[in-house]
Amino acid sequence: MSVRKRDIFTKCREFQYAQQAKASGCYPYFRPIEGLQGNKVVYDGRPMIMIGSNNYLGLAHDPRVIEASQQAISQFGVGCTGSRFLNGNSVIHEKLEDELAALLQKEAVLLHSTGFFANLGTLNTLCTEGDWILCDRENHASIIEGCQSSSAKTLPFAHNCIKTLRRRLQRVPEGDAKMIIMDGVYSMSGDIARLPEIVGVAKEMGAQTYVDEAHALGVLGPRGEGTVAHFGLQKDVDLIMGTFSKSLGSMGGFIAGPKDVIDFLRHTTRCMIFTASLAPAIVGAVRKSLELMLNEPERREQLWKNTRKMHAGFKSLGFNIGTTQTPVVPILIGSETKAFLFAHKLLEAGIFVTPAVYPAVKFGQAIVRTSYTATHTEDELDYVLETFARLGKELGIFEDAAYIGTTNSRGKPYSGYDFSLYQQESAKTVRAGS
Ligand SMILES: Cc1ncc(COP(=O)(O)O)c(C=O)c1O
Repeated sequence: MSVRKRDIFTKCREFQYAQQAKASGCYPYFRPIEGLQGNKVVYDGRPMIMIGSNNYLGLAHDPRVIEASQQAISQFGVGCTGSRFLNGNSVIHEKLEDELAALLQKEAVLLHSTGFFANLGTLNTLCTEGDWILCDRENHASIIEGCQSSSAKTLPFAHNCIKTLRRRLQRVPEGDAKMIIMDGVYSMSGDIARLPEIVGVAKEMGAQTYVDEAHALGVLGPRGEGTVAHFGLQKDVDLIMGTFSKSLGSMGGFIAGPKDVIDFLRHTTRCMIFTASLAPAIVGAVRKSLELMLNEPERREQLWKNTRKMHAGFKSLGFNIGTTQTPVVPILIGSETKAFLFAHKLLEAGIFVTPAVYPAVKFGQAIVRTSYTATHTEDELDYVLETFARLGKELGIFEDAAYIGTTNSRGKPYSGYDFSLYQQESAKTVRAGS
């Protein structure tokens, strides 16, 4: 019997799709941004309308936030050079925790260096042997990693489906500890968790609840507190996780909950103890963003005005935007290659947006994930709609949307990375122009 010869790097040499996409000229990732011009980013020497960020309140470049960040650097330096557990704690880290706890109506908060770490570290510390995690199938990758690296058992349930959640909970042996975890707003589909019903089931069946507010903070709730406050469930949801990398314009994350739970996590979470604490520049910026979020509710109002315009605009043009209820607006394309091609054509037209393909979404259900902010202007949004309509027609996006989730004539999913499609399309464009 022949022995297959592989070394540890064989898989890297076999990894082809990024190289193929680059060779065909439609590689959509790691695009280096050169600067900013108001609402626009400069890429490849040209200003582009950004509709691929999570800067929902437009605070990432607010001069007051930048100034607060600079002040924090002047006072505390550019880094803490260690874990908060040891030398890296400061008064501004503690103030930020207290401010978040007051906002979310939770007893205590623990900061993390990223939102990813907040989910990963909390889950693999809190959920141990003999515990059960009930996990929505469309939860963010950081939650999936947290479940996988915890020694608890994970039971996935169909996205936002109360019936399968209940069925999964019935599988948990009586008396075992269990927690239901979900995104408040789903990062790819833009839909909102059915929190009141989920909390009802949790109470009935004796489970704890954990909500990831990454895309809801600053967007939902009477003061931008998130999904939990949107539904008035502050007393009913046990743990609230959030990030600073979206509405608050910076980076970092946190977990909020009962004092004894947070105190336990503060002393046992490896993802927090064994990494450097958030840089002062970030803490200073986030505190200012939080203050502006609360003092300038007109930002959230404008965000929702822009969101409603884009939902209505895309629908009237015939795009399939799925079940979104928020500023995250996925444009369903289906074929991975076509999503790459569409994003590339949008870039040529001065619109910066990226496709999301498997594993961010199901295979064969690629999307171009668009998202809107409080600072997008009416003119920018009109240009986005006009350009999507023109290019959508040119690429046959509307016809393709009908194939999503189905199979082609050979019974294969209508999907995949066929970069020759890009070359054919480019050739067509050249012929049409010549
Ligand atoms: C739902 C959700 N949770 C967690 C994270 C991770 O947050 P961060 O970017 O702060 O690490 C993200 C980021 O994309 C997210 O969308």
